Amino acid sequence: MTYESYQEAVKNLNKYAYHYYVLDDPIITDEEYDKLYHKVLAYEEQNPAYIALDSPTQRVGGVALEGFKKAAHLSRMWSLEDLFNSEDLRKWLERVAKQKANVSFYCEPKFDGASLNLIYENGELKQAITRGDGAMGEDITQNAKTIRSIPLRIAYAQRIEIRGEVVIFKDEFEKINLERSRLKESLFANPRNAAAGSLRQLDSRITASRNLVFLPYGLGENELDQSLLSEKMAFIYSLGFKKAPLRTLAKGFDEIEEAYGTMKRERESFEMMLDGMVIKVNEIEAQEEMGYTVKNPRWASAYKFPAVEKITRIKDIVLQVGRSGAVTPVAIVEPTPIEGVVVERASLHNFDEIDRKDIRIGDKVIILRSGDVIPKIVKVLSHDRGEEIRPYIRPTHCPVCGSELLDEGALTKCQNLECSSRVANSIIYFASKACLNIDGLGEKIVESLFEEGLIKSVIDLYALRSDQLLALEGFKEKKTLKLLEAIEQSKHKECWRFVNGLGIEHIGEVGSKSLCQHFGLGFTTATKEELLSIDGFGEEMAESLLEFVRVNAAYIERLSSVMQPKAPEAKAEASENPFKAKTVVLTGSMSEPRGEIKTSLEALGAKVSGSVSKKTDYLIYGEDAGSKYDKAMSLEVPCISEEQMREMMA
Ligand code: IVH
Repeated sequence: MTYESYQEAVKNLNKYAYHYYVLDDPIITDEEYDKLYHKVLAYEEQNPAYIALDSPTQRVGGVALEGFKKAAHLSRMWSLEDLFNSEDLRKWLERVAKQKANVSFYCEPKFDGASLNLIYENGELKQAITRGDGAMGEDITQNAKTIRSIPLRIAYAQRIEIRGEVVIFKDEFEKINLERSRLKESLFANPRNAAAGSLRQLDSRITASRNLVFLPYGLGENELDQSLLSEKMAFIYSLGFKKAPLRTLAKGFDEIEEAYGTMKRERESFEMMLDGMVIKVNEIEAQEEMGYTVKNPRWASAYKFPAVEKITRIKDIVLQVGRSGAVTPVAIVEPTPIEGVVVERASLHNFDEIDRKDIRIGDKVIILRSGDVIPKIVKVLSHDRGEEIRPYIRPTHCPVCGSELLDEGALTKCQNLECSSRVANSIIYFASKACLNIDGLGEKIVESLFEEGLIKSVIDLYALRSDQLLALEGFKEKKTLKLLEAIEQSKHKECWRFVNGLGIEHIGEVGSKSLCQHFGLGFTTATKEELLSIDGFGEEMAESLLEFVRVNAAYIERLSSVMQPKAPEAKAEASENPFKAKTVVLTGSMSEPRGEIKTSLEALGAKVSGSVSKKTDYLIYGEDAGSKYDKAMSLEVPCISEEQMREMMA
């Protein structure tokens, strides 16, 4: 192969890939493509200095990174205001009309994935940055290059930011989860999480294997001079990007509702998940005049789809035993696809709820799924019930260990502390983010370690050996080492994580923190009076802790000597400052992790609370502030920006 024929071959491969990945309309067979691809590869192996920047061989991913670098967007990435019904739409249109009469609207689907900013310079893909806080994200260029619908080169030389959503098609999502379930890895909750997770892989070969798709939805910094958004988008598509389905121009309320109705009706038939319709003012000049609020453009909004409801049948009602011993019923339903996930279970909350709704095995029901949560049963179609369907009978004994259940009405409990389901779930809880945050120790792995008899309680985690793990299905060298390392790193963590991980009833993250702040690891010897003197500690919490310590003192001692948690440093009385003794709430993304800002504020004597109420002294907002900001405004709580906060701190 000569250099000229190599260049020609690269050009052709890119053309074939464009037809395949962008236009969904292949013009050659896979074999022909592979044959040419291998010729190109062979040439490149002989002539590494001549490898073309946009050669398809550059998309396979390469050396794994240590971590991602932060990178700034050239212009800010915004969020959208959500509209939930016709009334919201009407009001939004009225607001638009007040600022600018007679505009038209560009409507397109709202894709449910992860947003990405692509920066091209001199026609080359220079940088791909995740959304992050809107101002800064992570540089994931190496991963973006593996996505076939992202051109590595475009026929446009000026610097330009092209923004869009990275999605995973529903069928690809099913495949990934099937494989993960085979490997006993935790499943992705939905295609959005799968897309975001795949984009943030340090090993770009994993990203390359996931068949991600990029759908452009707009621009950041650009020198384009078209006066309509629809024209700018047409130009972007002409550069080789994939078109969004169902794009429409609409004039007013009725036309927008019509476009929305069509999209909502057809959403299930699309390859990707849609979670609404985005409405944007089409005239660029009008957009510029209207401008932005703190979080959103005033010229665009997201008209969300309602949660999807489906009819299915209850095949069975099974019981789950949680770490506190609570027994909860779960409905097993006929597998029903809802928005990209096959639903097989629905939550029933508790036995009183089964009675109240008169839910029976065999019943046809309407289930509703919104977001990532396990679907709910909204309604029983009891008119459709055969006579043989009998009422559900509450269990009297634990389905796992067989001991007698304590029935307190809404709450039914297994009281056997050694019940294997309680134990496995308490280990899962111990490893979760809010406790010791042991990466890779999810539900499936804990269950198999438990079933194999390798762990009987949390403390056994610290005695696991690599040969034991290697003998398990799905465990190879790398996974084993990673898990053992993560377990080792859970030692010497903050004391409150250790306490929270014990799973003491009524004592959560906040309780564990104040407990450790006061007593460090000495909490095991605190008296009831001392406990009650802690701000926020009530009778129920104190009783629960004392009882737990009474029963488990030796165990706590043993675990703590293995883990050696870190006791917090003693707090000095804060000197006078604007935040002393004030209750503040943080919202939105800030320039450093919120946890760190919280620590600085607490050091000044502020109480940092999670929710806004009339008692809040200040709401401190970062980029992309959400409903807390709106609530604070409506309660007339003073809202200050992160910058103002820093001035006040200084
Ligand atoms: S426009 C100028 N259009 O939704 C406003 N966003 O809630 C910027 N998204 O961060 C967004 N599909 O990740 C726009 N057709 C679409 C979209 C879309 C999905 C995502 C995007 C953005 C988020 C805002």
